[in-house]
Formats: sequence, structure tokens, C-alpha cells
Amino acid sequence: MKISASFLSMKEDRMQELDRTTVDFLHVDVMDGEFVKEKSISNDEMALKLKDVTKPLDIHLMVKDVKSYIDFYKDLHPAFITFHYEATNDPMSIINYLRSLNIKVGLAINPGTPIDSILSYLDQVDLILVMSVYPGRGGQEFIRDTERKLNKLNHVRKIIYLNYKIEVDGGINDKTIEKVKDADIAVSGYFITSADDYQRQVNILKDDIAC
Ligand code: DX5
Ligand code: ZN
Repeated sequence: MKISASFLSMKEDRMQELDRTTVDFLHVDVMDGEFVKEKSISNDEMALKLKDVTKPLDIHLMVKDVKSYIDFYKDLHPAFITFHYEATNDPMSIINYLRSLNIKVGLAINPGTPIDSILSYLDQVDLILVMSVYPGRGGQEFIRDTERKLNKLNHVRKIIYLNYKIEVDGGINDKTIEKVKDADIAVSGYFITSADDYQRQVNILKDDIAC
């Protein structure tokens, strides 16, 4: 399993330190104050924050106007851009748009959205992001029902020979990581960035899943 570090709850600017750890991705939470009531720093400020980062970027758009954010974040050459199923009434047009830009496509679902509602997109995307907290804030508690969703995504992937990656986002720490073994990528924010020693926290997560 790979680890993607979210810096949403990072207090001081310790981005370089986070970038020097052995995490696999840097998870970039983008919020517009519309799709979620929280708003992140401006896109320009975010780009500036990320300018020296060497890890592959895992962009998580919690926004309503998905295409305009894609137009900005595509220039950062991300590993994935993930948008929310709940943010649009035409997910397919966004999937096609990302494909036309040659960017790997992630589709995210909120805790209240069942896997059944995205079944028709599973063969169209590279990644499914399952929210294990309500989007908007770091440091929340992991929602237990997530395990069932991850299990189902894993099962469906096997029986119909698909190869989307499964990502889980929210409330992942040294205790909960064991519950999400069906995921390929686990996002962790508060658990890593609330500590003095980031690498130590990453080691704990990686030891727990033995990777
Ligand atoms: C929540 C964000 C998550 C969050 C993860 O809206 O999408 O990426 O920051 O951080 P923790 O691990 O603090 O829940
Ligand atoms: Zn996120």
C-alpha cells in the first residue's frame, strides 16, 4: 500500500521536510468554499507552496467548478486529478476532459454516496477515492462504513477484471490503517503533520501495513 501525505492540517510551512520523507505522493486538498464550506488558499498560493516539491502530486478537488480547477492544476503535471462525483451532473464529460489532457482520472465519493451510484464509471477511471470522513477538514474520525465500501470496490475489480486504484482519504492513523488494507493508497494528514518528526509517523504507518 502507498501513502499519500495531506498537508491540510500542517501548521508552519514544513513542506520541504514532508517532501523529504518516504511518502509516495503528496495529497493536495483543494476546496472552493462552495462544494464544501471550507476554502483553501488561492491556486497561485498553492502552486507557490508546491513549486519545489519532488513527490508526485495527488490532487483532490473538492470544488464545484471542476473544469476551471483542472485548467489550473494540469500545469503542475500531477500523477492524478480526482474530482467528486457529487460535484457534477455529468461526470463523463470531466473524465473525457482529463483524458484529453492525458491526466490520470480519479473519481471521489463522499461517505453518503454508495458504490452502486458509480458502477458505470469504474471502467472509465484510473482511481476511486473513498472519503472516510466528510470532506472539508483534516483531523476527523475515520467512518467505519468505509471498510465495507473498500471491500466492495476490491471485489468488483476482481470479478470484472478492472484495474482502477483504490484510495482512502480521511482519519487514517496508526490504528485505522489496518482497517483499510483493501486500498492501494491511503491518505494521511493529521497523523503525520501534527507530530514533530514526520518521517517517524510515516514509518509507523508503513510498518503497520508492512510495505
Ligand atoms: C478532508 C481531506 C483529507 C484530509 C486527510 O477533506 O480531503 O485529505 O485532509 O487528513 P486527515 O488524515 O487529517 O483526516
Ligand atoms: Zn483529500
